[in-house]
Amino acid sequence: MTFTVAEESPPAEYRASKRKAPEGESTTDLVFTSHLGNNAEIFRKILGLFVPAGSKVADVTYGLGAFWNEVPDGLYRVFPSDLKTGVDFRKLPYAAGEMDAVVLDPPYMEGLLRDDGSNAGNGTHSTFQTAYSNGIRPEGLDAKWHDAVLQLYVQAAVEAQRVLKPKGGIFIVKCQDEVSACIQRLTHVELVLNYWSMGFYPRDLFVVTRNGRPGVSRSMGQKHARKNHSYFLVFETGATNSRMNCINLMAPGAAADALRQVRPVQRRDRSGKSPATPAT
Ligand SMILES: C[S@@+](CC[C@H](N)C(=O)[O-])C[C@H]1O[C@@H](n2cnc3c(N)ncnc32)[C@H](O)[C@@H]1O
Repeated sequence: MTFTVAEESPPAEYRASKRKAPEGESTTDLVFTSHLGNNAEIFRKILGLFVPAGSKVADVTYGLGAFWNEVPDGLYRVFPSDLKTGVDFRKLPYAAGEMDAVVLDPPYMEGLLRDDGSNAGNGTHSTFQTAYSNGIRPEGLDAKWHDAVLQLYVQAAVEAQRVLKPKGGIFIVKCQDEVSACIQRLTHVELVLNYWSMGFYPRDLFVVTRNGRPGVSRSMGQKHARKNHSYFLVFETGATNSRMNCINLMAPGAAADALRQVRPVQRRDRSGKSPATPAT
């Protein structure tokens, strides 16, 4: 069950209230998890839900600033930066705990990180390259192909965690899944698990479906569904143990055991009950 509006106001059946009549008014004027259109409109709504006006927001992949097209000027104290203007999001010029929110939208597909001249968006697609990448494979990546994409996202999150306030800091992350070397890589799932294991609470998820019908060049027959959607993921720092227990790995096996062990908070056992003492 996802409370899409705000955890503070779940549906009546989930509220432990003694009141007979629920507070508030009935409305459909809500922010929804699924959005058809461009990023700017849903980005404004995401900020409206999670980031109070006046907050300090570092957009560390500012690019052309398209995310901010619908956000009223002056509503936030925005700190734009990008590798194109000399700031690597893995080494930000901010003090620890200084930011209320961080926005991250790095190159999301492995083709944008290649340094062998075969980058996605070369040639006639150079505007795509300009908008989505700086066209250079970043230093400090030892992983390859899609794993390099993921590694960059994780390295960015380490630095975001440093500059965000330790409690209630909001980390807004844009991503898109990709099929890499014919293997389905659900980037949004990989990010949720990686960031959760780092101590971020995955507070919400938004699906952005693009208008129109994207095609493929040189189709050899379709093996996977063509992706026409991307995600905004919203993470929070310093969440309580009960929130961090939002992902319950109940499956037996070494992989789940390993992931369970990296979580530094009190874990439930496989029956769903919390252990009496915190796991070490
Ligand atoms: C998808 S675009 C961002 C688009 C942006 N959200 C907008 O609204 O215009 C990705 C951006 O990440 C930047 N980038 C790539 N690697 C980076 C790094 N290590 N540090 C900072 N920015 C980086 C690229 O220069 C590019 O501008």
